[in-house]
Amino acid sequence: MGSRLRQWLMNPVKTLRGADIQPGQTVLEVGCGTGFFTIPAAKLIGEEGCLVAMDALSDYVKLVSKKVQSADLKNVRVVKRDALNTGLDTASVDVVLLFGVIPFPSLPLNRLLPEMHRVLKPEKTMSVWLFPVSGLVPRSILRSGLFKYVSKRNGVYNYRRC
Ligand SMILES: C[S@@+](CC[C@H](N)C(=O)[O-])C[C@H]1O[C@@H](n2cnc3c(N)ncnc32)[C@H](O)[C@@H]1O
Repeated sequence: MGSRLRQWLMNPVKTLRGADIQPGQTVLEVGCGTGFFTIPAAKLIGEEGCLVAMDALSDYVKLVSKKVQSADLKNVRVVKRDALNTGLDTASVDVVLLFGVIPFPSLPLNRLLPEMHRVLKPEKTMSVWLFPVSGLVPRSILRSGLFKYVSKRNGVYNYRRC
């Protein structure tokens, strides 16, 4: 997930630039895993922004917390939580990142998308980076009626919350 080979094959900053992330925003990263995207995302949003890096597994949460501490980043909250029930306030997030997390059996779209729709502010963005095999996912997102397709940049699909 965070291997050197992956770092070599894929530049996380370039991929993140495909999402609509701006300095100062509040960003929710669902399923941060080993933190491949977490540190670069925190740097992109800067000190005025806030990144909530969420994962259901304690080991990943501990690992990413250590990485955040080592990088001396104060704008990241690493949270152990099921993303189907984030516990975040309604309409509190500017950008949701679903990077490398769908399709995933423990994140069924019929439950994940309503929760992402709930936490996003109106008209804000859900950005999705998929493993190449996941061609059906974009259609499922559109069929939900909760999001409108906006763009695809650097392999990242961007949707606006309806
Ligand atoms: C394939 S990994 C991707 C990790 C990271 N986004 C990346 O691209 O390197 C999927 C991650 O989603 C997390 N995950 C799966 N179901 C979840 C859920 N319901 N809530 C929060 N995290 C979940 C897993 O623990 C895992 O860390």
